[in-house]
Amino acid sequence: MRKYIVRGGTPLYGSTGVQGAKNSALPILAASVLSGGRCVIRNCPALSDVEATLAILRHVGCETLREGGAVVVDSARAEGSEIPEPLMREMRSSVIFLGALLAKTGYARLSAPGGCEIGLRPIDLHLDAMRRLGAVVKDDAGVIECRAPDGLKGANITLSFPSVGATENIMIAAATAKGETLVVNAAREPEISDLADYLNGMGAKISGAGEGTVRIRGVSGLHPAEHTVIPDRIAAATLLAAAAATGGEVTVNRVIPAHLEPVLAAFAEAGCDTRIRGDAIRLTAPARLKAVSTVRTMPYPGFPTDFQAPFTAVLTKADGASVVIETIFESRFKYIGELVRFGAKIRRDGRMAVIEGVPRLYPAGVVTPDLRGGAALVLAALSAEGESEIRDVRHIERGYEDICGAVRALHGNMEAVSAAP
Ligand code: EPZ
Repeated sequence: MRKYIVRGGTPLYGSTGVQGAKNSALPILAASVLSGGRCVIRNCPALSDVEATLAILRHVGCETLREGGAVVVDSARAEGSEIPEPLMREMRSSVIFLGALLAKTGYARLSAPGGCEIGLRPIDLHLDAMRRLGAVVKDDAGVIECRAPDGLKGANITLSFPSVGATENIMIAAATAKGETLVVNAAREPEISDLADYLNGMGAKISGAGEGTVRIRGVSGLHPAEHTVIPDRIAAATLLAAAAATGGEVTVNRVIPAHLEPVLAAFAEAGCDTRIRGDAIRLTAPARLKAVSTVRTMPYPGFPTDFQAPFTAVLTKADGASVVIETIFESRFKYIGELVRFGAKIRRDGRMAVIEGVPRLYPAGVVTPDLRGGAALVLAALSAEGESEIRDVRHIERGYEDICGAVRALHGNMEAVSAAP
């Protein structure tokens, strides 16, 4: 077990790069199963979730290799179609392998991902979509089996919710289906477009990714490709939040500013000055932030649910009361109980949290409840005057490549130490 020791209370300043996008890398690695050869995925972040995905790739017969910032996946001898429960438990988003295994082998067997720290995480939209593509799906006793012995057939699929994972599974499964697939009410996150770019690089014919309707014209097969993963917009926003939470000034380089639009609007409403110069964003924070009337998480291009917790942490010292509404996941406020230990004043009512700004935060000992809640605790610890301790940081290391190194690069004082279990 590891914990972070954070000595907060001073402004963070300076400039830094950003890791590759976790939520792009995971579906892209899964889709590599279909290439039949050697793919190179550059700017692939070094995260435990990526390691879990590579373990699944090896389990189904791929060879994987990390070469610096790139990962090489060779699926020439991949023929597996089952993901054992321990690997599914390791990472619930392994459901993203469903479409790839089904398309590749005509069969896929995995255990139901089950809930996680932020909610039940059902996969009904994924399974209904696979049925629409012609698969026979059995879902009982927590085991999911999909069969398509005669291959998949293109279909028109309307999603009742623009699910990121379901949109990705459909794109991957339909890429080599017979005929055309239309996905209506598709997710529009940048990671969807990044996956489509990778699949098209492998010979797929996908158009409309990033818009509400995605068209996939099935091709007979895919071939290996090389790809550079887009920057992680949530990691970038978290680094900017480190400036906002400490009254500092931070520049993040080599990002795609358009991906951060909804977040930059919220920072501006809180009184931060944000400047975009090419692929860099600089945030300069005021001595004290203003409260933000209402932040409501929405599917992209709305305010991202993954940034709800970090931004709530930023608002704890704002001048006035802010309201945050979480519309995507049903239990994504667990971190609030830990934030209150720093002296934050937050009242939670269902999917709404009211943050009453306080003049200062105090150092505390806290436990990380989940990935983005953990990032919120890091931001609060940086803002509190004194030494804080954050335990069970494995959640944070699922999605942030080296948050201690990033904070130190911005002149913050933070280190990882081993902790007694
Ligand atoms: C992806 O999860 C991301 N994970 C999440 O990031 C992110 O929060 C989420 O999209 C929303 O942007 C990865 O990309 C690996 P959804 P996903 O399907 O695909 C409901 C992080 O912190 N739903 O868009 O699971 C679901 O319960 C993680 O990096 C169904 O009801 O998200 C939720 O309420 C956390 N049935 C909503 O839709 C389904 O079949 C959004 O889920 C699927 C989803």
